[in-house]
Amino acid sequence: MERTLCIIKPDAVKKKVQGNIIQMLLDAGFTIRAMKLIQLTKEQAQKFYEVHKERPFYNDLVEYMTSGPVIPIALEKENAVPDYRELIGATDPAEAKEGTVRKKYATSKAENAVHGSDSVENGKIEVGFFFKEEELV
Ligand code: RTP
Ligand code: MG
Repeated sequence: MERTLCIIKPDAVKKKVQGNIIQMLLDAGFTIRAMKLIQLTKEQAQKFYEVHKERPFYNDLVEYMTSGPVIPIALEKENAVPDYRELIGATDPAEAKEGTVRKKYATSKAENAVHGSDSVENGKIEVGFFFKEEELV
């Protein structure tokens, strides 16, 4: 079964829409294998988004991801990676399709409610970033 990592980002937690987002994941057929509420350190956020370290938005992204608690969720489903990306919608909510998580709950392109793994390979790596194998139930 394919795995992908969702992170409910600080803007969505602050808006108290994490319950709605979790319900959307369940309604779309994803199984939650692990979930927690955590405050990321600057070092953790820098490491998690290391692929973007040369991008102009990197420092803002790290600041945003550490601006409040986040909820990493390990999800499982057939075709979890593409199906989850479809469910969350485009990075910029202005371009996201109606009914997607980001269309409904994102604040802006930068503060866009949720993270999603972009490949099967990264899905495994990112689930492992937050959860030990024995924490997946
Ligand atoms: P994510 O990795 O968080 O699931 O988002 P994504 O694949 O849709 O977008 P990506 O290009 O990987 O960008 C990672 C996150 O950086 C922030 N961002 N800000 N200000 C900007 O132009 C900008 N561009 C990207 C967003 O939080 C984005 O999700
Ligand atoms: Mg990405």
